[in-house]
Order: sequence, then structure tokens, then C-alpha cells
Amino acid sequence: MAKAKSVFTCTECGGQSPKWQGQCPHCDAWNTMVESVAETGKAAGANRFSGLGGSGQVVTLSEVEAKDFPRMPTLIGEFDRVLGGGMVEGGVVLIGGDPGIGKSTLLLQAAARLAEQGTVLYVTGEESSQQVALRARRLEVNASKIRLLPEIELEKIQATIASIKPKVAVIDSIQTLYSSALTSAPGSVAQVRECAAQLTRVAKQSGTAIVFVGHVTKEGALAGPRVLEHMVDTVLYFEGDTHTSFRLIRAFKNRFGAVNEMGVFAMTEKGLREVTNPSALFLSHHRADVPGSCVMVTQEGTRPLLVELQALVDEAHSPQPRRLTVGLEQNRLAMLLAVLHRHAGIALFDQDVFVNAVGGVRIAEPGADLAVTLAIVSSLRNRALPAKHVVFGEVGLAGEVRPVQRGQERLREAAKLGFTHAIVPAANKPKQRIDGLEVIAVDRLSDAVDY
Ligand code: TYD
Ligand code: MG
Repeated sequence: MAKAKSVFTCTECGGQSPKWQGQCPHCDAWNTMVESVAETGKAAGANRFSGLGGSGQVVTLSEVEAKDFPRMPTLIGEFDRVLGGGMVEGGVVLIGGDPGIGKSTLLLQAAARLAEQGTVLYVTGEESSQQVALRARRLEVNASKIRLLPEIELEKIQATIASIKPKVAVIDSIQTLYSSALTSAPGSVAQVRECAAQLTRVAKQSGTAIVFVGHVTKEGALAGPRVLEHMVDTVLYFEGDTHTSFRLIRAFKNRFGAVNEMGVFAMTEKGLREVTNPSALFLSHHRADVPGSCVMVTQEGTRPLLVELQALVDEAHSPQPRRLTVGLEQNRLAMLLAVLHRHAGIALFDQDVFVNAVGGVRIAEPGADLAVTLAIVSSLRNRALPAKHVVFGEVGLAGEVRPVQRGQERLREAAKLGFTHAIVPAANKPKQRIDGLEVIAVDRLSDAVDY
């Protein structure tokens, strides 16, 4: 028998090359070629991009009927929020996350709710039917309407979808599937791409909504080809620290809804429970005011969220003082320390600075700047910020405090949670008074520090 020939496949675009190259000849990405088994037959490469357009006739855009997609709410409010209102007919959702974070748990809970509205097929490739049944019992979900299929062969799954025509199919997980048309092992770039492309096509043609569970690599990216994220309509990531019970789901891409929406859950012994008022979650409850703590209002999608930021400033014992952040961007901290020095006269070059966002939440927006700097100053001076104060605003390199989006909503959320004072950028000062909230508008970082 001839020796199986190996080819090199790009993990970004799926392009192939007979020899290893540092740069992919198809998409010019660097260091993405991995060895895989050469595929025979037409399947290889043919499905690199799964066009979903349909018949391929030229039409005038205005003649195309723009109808709303019918949605199936999962009736799990926080999940529906990230989905943009529920599952869409023919839509493909990819959910990634660390092992053990709760992907299978959430999908089983959602499947049970969806099964009340139509046929749901749950394809399990990772766990046996017994394991899924055990989980269903533990979650106390109504398992009588979920159709379960323990299968990893793509062709059999396609046939099952064609015969029972489910409204929703869950594939747990895409990395366990294999197509018999290819010879490479399940989980390989070629297999994942092929299975995802074929199932995406099935979804578009049959109107079945499909959810893929995806594994993530050590770095937190989805395992398999990057094209996976391009193929699907919605990409969700499960976040959260497995040491705490809180789990966040974020939408990174959504063709049917807003991105940056976030759903918050708590893992309990009966599965994932929604947290509808997450603001209270990310505040630690100090009995007395403590130095180095500052509460900010961030905006996640359409929802304002109160988060406590903590800073610790301590004398450095090495010539290289440490700058560490948890949940915030590290480079941004270095920049803020420089601004503090130049524009507020506060030098920290001989101090270690640690900043943490409470509750394991990640804040990417620059609206956290002002709160970070005030927390640092508070820790340095060992003086607590006054109680019931919230802070938000971006700090510029010139020492100015810049406005953030949706200031009004943030202020209202703070007032709702009982805060009495808000230190905000001057441009975010509301025109009308918000009941119970005194707004302190600042133009420059030094104004806020002085206050
Ligand atoms: P699981 O959904 O299997 O994770 P994934 O599919 O993302 O790998 O979740 C497994 C974890 O969740 C496991 O560590 C146990 C925990 N868990 C609970 O705490 N309560 C529950 O009701 C269930 C079903 C799981
Ligand atoms: Mg699982």
C-alpha cells in the first residue's frame, strides 16, 4: 500500500501546500501551516468556503424580500440576550469555552426549553447517552421531548437531520465529528472545516438552527481552522473562572443581533441559573470604606454594569516595579501611570501597582481609566474614596477626561443601586437631574484627583 502522503494545511484559510512554508501561499498568514494527511477525492479543498447564497442569480437588492427571521426563544433570558432574541431559523451558532465551564449544561437546559416548541436533536459525540441522561436528571429538565443521538459520523448526522427535521440541532462537539469522505482524524483542521461547512449548508437548506459546541485551545481561541468563525452566523464565548460560580457568555460575532452583549449565569448544583441583576455581583461588600477601591459603571452591549476596581500600590523591591492587571489591559495601566505623573504630579516609578476588576469580569473599554487612576491614588494615599461614589470616564494622554458612550444610562443604573455621587466627564453631565444622584463633572484628571 502506498504511504499516506502528508500535506500542509493552513489553520487560517484551510489552503494547502505540498511542503511546509512559513507563510501560507493562499492567505499570506504566517506560521499557520500544520501537517495533515492528504485527502483524496473531490472533497478536499472544494469546501474551503461554503457559499450559502443559493441559486446564484443576479437580482436587484431592492427586489429581495427582506423578511425578519423567525426566532425561537430559548426562554433562558440571559442566553436569548446574547443570541439577540433567540435561535434563528437556519442560523448557525458556535459556542466556545474552556472544558468544564458549562457548555453542555447550558445547551441541555436550552434544548429542554426549545423542545417544548419543536423537535430538538441533541447530538452527543463526547459523552455517552447515559452520561447525558444523568445530567438531564441532575438538572431536572424535561427530557421527554429531546431526541438524543450519540454519533460522530457526519453523514449519519446529516441523514438524521434530513429524516426527523428538527427545529434545532445541537452538536456537542464539532471537534469530535468526522466525515468518512476524509481520511484524517477527528479534530484535525480538515475534518473540522469539512464537518462545519457541510452542517452549515444543511442548516441553510433545511432551516434547522444548529448549535456547535467548540473546544478552545490553551490560548483561548477556538480549536480548528479560523474559517470556522467566518462560516457561522454567531460566535459566543463562555468566560469565567472555574473557581467561582459565575459564568459569562459574550457574543463576539452575531449576524442576527448586537455584539458585545453579555449574559450572566451562576453555576449551581441544578445547572446554570440566570443572574438578572449582575451589577450587584461585581461589587464586593466592604463593611467600611477601604482605600484602593473604586466603583465604576461599564457598558456591556445594551446593559450598564457596576464593577468594583481595586488597586494596590506597594513599595517596589526591585529596580523594575511590577504593573499587574487582572481583568483590565496591562498596557493601558502603564499609560495611565505616565499620565498620573505628568498631569497630576503623582509619581509611582518606585511602587508596584496591581489592579483587579472584582468578580472575574473583563473590561476592555477605556471608560475604566478614571476609576483605575482614582483607585491607584486612593491606595497610594491610603485614603478611601468617599462612600457611594461611582466613577467613569476615559483619560487622554493630555490629562483630559473624555466622555464615554451612554453616560445617561450608566448614571441611571448607579442611582438605581443606591449610589449618591458620580464623578464623570463634563460632557457626560446629564441635562436633567437624576433623582438622588449628585453629578461631579470633571474636565481634567487633576480635577478628579483634587476632588
Ligand atoms: P459541562 O457542561 O459538562 O462543561 P463543558 O461541556 O463546557 O465541558 O459542565 C461541567 C461542570 O459543571 C462540572 O465541573 C460540574 C459542573 N456542574 C455543576 O456544578 N452543576 C450542574 O448541575 C452540572 C450539570 C454541572
Ligand atoms: Mg461538554
